[in-house]
Amino acid sequence: MKIEIFAARRRRLMDSIGDGVAIVPNAPVQRRNSDVSYPFRSDSDFYYLTGFKEPESVAVLAPGLDSGEFTLFCRERNPEHELWEGSRAGLEGAVKLYGADRALPFASIREELPKLLRDRASIHYCMGRYPEFDTHVMDWMNKVRGAGRSGKKVPGEIVDISRNLHELRLTKTPEEHQTIAKVAAITSDAHVRAMQFCKAGMFEYELQAEIEYWFQKNGCTYAYPSIVASGSNACVLHYTENNKKLQSGDLLLIDAGAELDCYAADITRTFPVNGKFTPEQKSVYEVVLEAQKAAIKLAVKGSRFEDVGQSAVKVISQGLKELGILQGSLEEILETESYKEFYMHKIGHWLGLDVHDVGNYGDGEQSRMLEEGFYMTVEPGIYISPSDEVDARWHGIGIRIEDDVLVTANGNRVTTKAVPKEIAEIEELMSG
Ligand code: GLY
Ligand code: MN
Ligand code: MN
Repeated sequence: MKIEIFAARRRRLMDSIGDGVAIVPNAPVQRRNSDVSYPFRSDSDFYYLTGFKEPESVAVLAPGLDSGEFTLFCRERNPEHELWEGSRAGLEGAVKLYGADRALPFASIREELPKLLRDRASIHYCMGRYPEFDTHVMDWMNKVRGAGRSGKKVPGEIVDISRNLHELRLTKTPEEHQTIAKVAAITSDAHVRAMQFCKAGMFEYELQAEIEYWFQKNGCTYAYPSIVASGSNACVLHYTENNKKLQSGDLLLIDAGAELDCYAADITRTFPVNGKFTPEQKSVYEVVLEAQKAAIKLAVKGSRFEDVGQSAVKVISQGLKELGILQGSLEEILETESYKEFYMHKIGHWLGLDVHDVGNYGDGEQSRMLEEGFYMTVEPGIYISPSDEVDARWHGIGIRIEDDVLVTANGNRVTTKAVPKEIAEIEELMSG
């Protein structure tokens, strides 16, 4: 994305904080074991405002400050370190390539950052996300308070930056739509390939490898650990062991999404290992598919998030009743929420820089109304684990169908629709 886009985001955030100052740290490097770190991934709030992807960096936004509104603390260039760890933008690059008004060495932050808090009414910061950094913010605030005794204005409060910043992140702009479309297309292709590769006797991790190979080949990483769950493993919602041998006659649930330029896709498809649904699998699958279609239809401007979910709950409850899996009238099932034994999660979540993206789902009283530019998943499911007290023919059937939906001016766009989900389409693709 162009640097002007990040500048516009900073402007909008600065316009909302008045005479405050925002401190947005990048994520710390996480140690994996010994002297090995996990691959570094920028904090989503920090990335949203800067486009910067190097560790040891902090953005400070001080609206109207004469010496520069946007200060970026980052690593200085260092030929020896760069030889081992790769190149750095350095202070000059931070200004030239990332639009910082001022770049300061990360090593100088303890000395320099308190100066940026002077004469500011409030500090806008996300307390609690990085506990170690919290202690520095407290120290800096105390330092400035000390100076305040000599008559200078000092920040009187720490305001949670999330409220304003996450509202901005919730509505996706046309530039974001482009990245979203790309990552959705790459993820869709990976799922189609998995359906084509799938054969009884393979291990779940072999299909995980095919999927993630496609992500990486196309310049992506994965947005979250891939779930490749065959048979009753699909009833474990966050199954990631991915080490079971695929059995003919079982279903396979794959929930996997790529991440491109920090933007996530999130797709789930469920299909038969041997390419042909059994009558029981088919009848449960049809209920989930109908529920998903009903919810997608309602995922448009002006609908409430909760109502989108409720439309799927009704279809699933009715369907489970007709199959004899749930007893009682539809009203009783909805009233007692007995469907929750088989469908225990929400309809979906916001999607963006985080797979479970930021933004409120309501104000505590009322569920949020969808607006143009909101991007969400629609992912109902039915999970009948072997321990559920229902006829054994249903046991081990776990089905989720998940697509990514962008709310538009006149309806919505399902960015992941290229992956087949009709029974006939799946069987046709897998027979080839
Ligand atoms: N892949 C995580 C989710 O579907 O919410
Ligand atoms: Mn998912
Ligand atoms: Mn999801």
